[in-house]
Amino acid sequence: MTTTANAPAPAPRLREPIPLVSHLRAFIHDPLELFDSMHASHGDVVEFFMAGDRWVLLSHPDDIERVHLETTRNYRKGYQEYKKIGYVFSRTLGNGLVTSEGSFWRTQRRLAQPAFHTKRIQGYADTMVGYTRELIDTWHPGDEFDMRILMGGLTQRVAGKSFFGTDTEKESSRASEALDKIMLGFNVELGSMVLERLPAFVPTRNRRRVDSAISDFEDVIAEFIANRRAAEGEHGDLLAMLVESRDDDGSQMTDKQLRDELVTMYVAAQETTTSTLAWIWYFLGTRPDLAARVYAEVDSVLGGAPATAEKMGELKLLRAVVDEVLRLYPPAWRVFRVPDNDVEFQGYRVKAGTMVAMSQWITHRDPRWFDRPTEFDPDRWLDGRTANLHRYAYWPFGGGPRMCIGNGFALMEIVLIAATIAQRVRYTLLDHDVKPYPMITLRPSPGVRVRVDSVAGAQ
Ligand code: HEM
Repeated sequence: MTTTANAPAPAPRLREPIPLVSHLRAFIHDPLELFDSMHASHGDVVEFFMAGDRWVLLSHPDDIERVHLETTRNYRKGYQEYKKIGYVFSRTLGNGLVTSEGSFWRTQRRLAQPAFHTKRIQGYADTMVGYTRELIDTWHPGDEFDMRILMGGLTQRVAGKSFFGTDTEKESSRASEALDKIMLGFNVELGSMVLERLPAFVPTRNRRRVDSAISDFEDVIAEFIANRRAAEGEHGDLLAMLVESRDDDGSQMTDKQLRDELVTMYVAAQETTTSTLAWIWYFLGTRPDLAARVYAEVDSVLGGAPATAEKMGELKLLRAVVDEVLRLYPPAWRVFRVPDNDVEFQGYRVKAGTMVAMSQWITHRDPRWFDRPTEFDPDRWLDGRTANLHRYAYWPFGGGPRMCIGNGFALMEIVLIAATIAQRVRYTLLDHDVKPYPMITLRPSPGVRVRVDSVAGAQ
């Protein structure tokens, strides 16, 4: 095809190994490897076909920035198109903040935003630290367990308390059991793009299991909502803020909207923070030198007192460890947008309706932006090497109007939980052979098995 100055060229296209099925097999088998290899061979704009759909992978921070800043004007997230996200995702999240679009999303975001203001979030710090201390109190030298599973239970409890004002573990084990089944269902469908793409009316075993878990979860949430609507007095949790919030015309969220927002927050908060915490214990377990520095920092900053929101800013090395985990194993490892019109990136044309994929996994490991990019090196965040980084070379929480609303909550939760454990627990990593498992997040697989060496007494 000939091109002129006014007509951008089509993007370089990845050769299709098998027509129609195209890159689906590679994507199912190892999506990280597929993204890596297409970026290495074709550069920052590469087009490919995924089971008949046109996709493009953008990897230059300038392009990623443009898409994020123009998201609410020229792009859709595309979640309403069922085929893109699959049955379990759309059935679970409904029309909540992650999946909604347009003016509906804008209103919901405005209503939810106050619950995430810094002052509000700081009110959750005691819950985060308190629940972590309770968990540590059950640990003994010689205990062996998978840190990923224990961190999952902990972040779930924190989310239950902060969002619903209730201790989901004690008051409603139904909610946590249902959530576990939903997350399992997510992973089963996401792990097979074939299952995910079956039409919604096909009742697979996984879908039936998820449907029943969702209805259990909805029953519990309906009780929370009903109790809260009936209750008098001040409650500092997200549910209270959403129940009380009013739009400009005085209207309130319906029970269905509340349900969608609460489930969305719960799912968005839980798996992401769990994966980050699990990787922290993995890396500290592989690097005793670094762990010793983290322990020394925690001791000197906290001096034996419980961690607080105010002290977080002083835990600089720990925060650098968190930033480095979010760089190497970003829980949100790819995001998608669908352009409403044809667009041009780096001189290449991308057609309206194309699935535009952008991957934190790729940019966070790009040697143009990070030296020795595959090395776990938290000091890069402390010694000035990342001072002039492009805003979209490192973007674990996204950006633009649809940036993660839980960013501050997540960082506080991760740092406070990690500091509280680092203050009291010494452990040995039992299995060093751990790999990222690319599902909703890049969770460490098969897990982070540890043996507790010592637990300092209650402080
Ligand atoms: C390490 C933890 C987390 C990471 C890495 C993360 C990452 C992200 C990213 C990349 C996005 C943007 C997705 C896109 O542009 O398509 C996002 C959106 C979102 N996140 Fe998070 N997230 C984390 C924790 C949380 C927590 C704790 C909450 C809730 C308290 C939360 C709630 C949300 C919501 C509601 C959205 C959609 C926002 C909107 O579109 O208006 N996330 N997150």
